[in-house]
Amino acid sequence: MKTPTRKMTVPAFREAAERGQKLTMLTAYDYLWAGIMDEAGVDSILVGDSLAMVVQGKSTTLPVTLDQMIYHGELVARAVQRALVVVDMPFMSYQVSPQQAVENAGRIMKETGADAIKLEGGAIQSETIRGIGRAEIPVMAHIGMRPQAVRQLGGMGKIQRDEQRLLDDARAAEDAGAFSIVLELVPEDIAGRITEALSIPTIGIGAGARCSGQVLVGPDMLGLNPGFKPRFLKQFGDLRNSALGAVRGYIQEVQNGQFPDEQHSHH
Ligand code: KIV
Repeated sequence: MKTPTRKMTVPAFREAAERGQKLTMLTAYDYLWAGIMDEAGVDSILVGDSLAMVVQGKSTTLPVTLDQMIYHGELVARAVQRALVVVDMPFMSYQVSPQQAVENAGRIMKETGADAIKLEGGAIQSETIRGIGRAEIPVMAHIGMRPQAVRQLGGMGKIQRDEQRLLDDARAAEDAGAFSIVLELVPEDIAGRITEALSIPTIGIGAGARCSGQVLVGPDMLGLNPGFKPRFLKQFGDLRNSALGAVRGYIQEVQNGQFPDEQHSHH
């Protein structure tokens, strides 16, 4: 399939969903992978705060800092020509007050070159979403299982089934001006009804096929994170085993004198 070349903007993202196009989003955290995903034609790249877990090896997303998100956001935005680049606001970079949130969202936009920010919460963050929107910064909201609320929720993998609360959160985020909403770990029927009730696209992760689009964590779908196998995750590649094979091949060839050979030597 040919890679589409027009830049995906926030209005184009919404229009694509309105036309019935299923939106695709993946997380990336560096120049190399963002470039591959962009070249493959993904609609949006999220610099997720999952960075704390899949890049930094932490057990939750809570420790990642704003400066670290900005550093990785800039690497990704520099690689991307077409996809919509969204950067997560990390834990405690927006919860203190709407003013704190606007200032930090502004730093992300100025210092990374991203197209939008994402934050967790619906109704409880509606003032914040409004405030960031007043600064003309597009906001993607994130409801359902919210990893930054892991201590409140009592764990990361819990399916969120309170339909009325989810709908209230989704509507509150839309009314406050969010251009899209991530639904994480929500039963398919509920996610479908929320999607029908909104005029902005929903992007599901573990939320079934009736969302406007899907997001997966890049290293997980590439098969780089073998211990993580939730039901919703499909591995589209087996890069860990490819990498292990390549590194083992290199070690063996150096040790047995096969590499470097004539072809890889200068004379
Ligand atoms: O941080 C992240 O990677 C995310 C996705 C799981 C949506 O928020």
